[in-house]
Amino acid sequence: MSTSAHQIEGAVDQRGPSVWDAFTALPGNVKDGTTAAVACDHVRRYREDVALVRDLGVGAYRFSVSWPRVLPDGAGRVNARGLDFYDRLVDELCAAGVRPVPTLFHWDTPLALEKDGGWLARATAERFAAYAAVVAARIGDRVPTWITLNEPAEHTLLGHALGQHAPGKRLLFDALPVAHHLLLGHGLAVAALRAAGARDIGVANSHGPTWPASDAPQDREAADLYDVLLNRLFSDPLLTGRYPELITELLCADVPDLAGDLAVIAAPLDWYGVNFYQPTKVGAPRPGATEFSGLTLPPELPFSPRPITGYPVTDFGWPVVPDALTELLLTLRERYGDALPPLIITENGCSYDGLDDQARIAYLDGHVRALHRALESGVDVRGYFVWSLLDNFEWAEGYGQRFGLVHVDATLKRTPKASYHWLRTQLTSSPSGV
Ligand code: FCB
Repeated sequence: MSTSAHQIEGAVDQRGPSVWDAFTALPGNVKDGTTAAVACDHVRRYREDVALVRDLGVGAYRFSVSWPRVLPDGAGRVNARGLDFYDRLVDELCAAGVRPVPTLFHWDTPLALEKDGGWLARATAERFAAYAAVVAARIGDRVPTWITLNEPAEHTLLGHALGQHAPGKRLLFDALPVAHHLLLGHGLAVAALRAAGARDIGVANSHGPTWPASDAPQDREAADLYDVLLNRLFSDPLLTGRYPELITELLCADVPDLAGDLAVIAAPLDWYGVNFYQPTKVGAPRPGATEFSGLTLPPELPFSPRPITGYPVTDFGWPVVPDALTELLLTLRERYGDALPPLIITENGCSYDGLDDQARIAYLDGHVRALHRALESGVDVRGYFVWSLLDNFEWAEGYGQRFGLVHVDATLKRTPKASYHWLRTQLTSSPSGV
């Protein structure tokens, strides 16, 4: 089961501001005009939420630590109250027999660091490692498994290239230094975690098969470029110590010691996390902006996503294609061979409204079966985390897209949905790290 700090915690008055607080304060950035100031009020209700996780019968709970809750200015002064919260959360999980799996960065960069350039500045990578050390020193004695970053691809693309997520920068390909600094931050944080004794470290990257819109060379070329950005920009350097050729050309002029950085970035991982939601069909650019997955993509992009038809869709409009998960896992194994560590699905789930969410049951059932097919073909997958425990603040969508197995209403009352009861029944026969 998985969640993230900004999407559920609330209690903004007990932490420093993040880029998401600044972004959501600007009209037009979030579809329903909401913010995560209260969200699911998890900081106050975490005991109830841990009980929901425990009663579900899952073996592990992935949550994220809010950097500005621990270090309100991003560096320096520690907020004792913030660190205490994660200490109590970890204790509560351990007492419930659930393995805590913290993610150190799920997009909520301290606003103070953004003012110094955010992830465009190399110093942010160093500050991230210092923050990792502070968190590990406090909860590392009870936390066996760590995730450094969540979906650096989305954070780079949506947050810095397209401006549809915080911090709202529209730099297109000039956003690439952000990718490099996120990766460097990951590598430096791995070293900090290892120095603190951590032995089970991974990263959560988003992946999905890219399907060319046709066999025409222009469509294939556009799909290849998209595939590099989504499926290789982060995993190639992490797993092979090299950027894809195209990226090296775009980055090398600005990075003083690329080889040295790549050696840090490629520090061995104990496992590799895959967030999977959907495949993408991509073709040659078309004139005018493209609407895609709730995003408005500018015409300058050298590719354009196309609708995938013939499958059911979630409330978000995302096609439900379980076979694409099998395809993805087989592709990763083929692409990286022995360099691929054991895999963990760190996110998979769907948005559907209503308490009797039979469509979510079908989605999860289909994807677990797809995962099983990959296992039967010899792909080493060690765990599967569902996104998400609670209906929560879904970034630029606000509260409109409901990914929870537990419904949260306007009074913040939690009500398990049909999918929660279904999963609980499944798990009684085969407990695992879901
Ligand atoms: C992923 C994010 C997660 C959530 C799901 C639906 O990209 O990591 O926070 O928004 O999508």
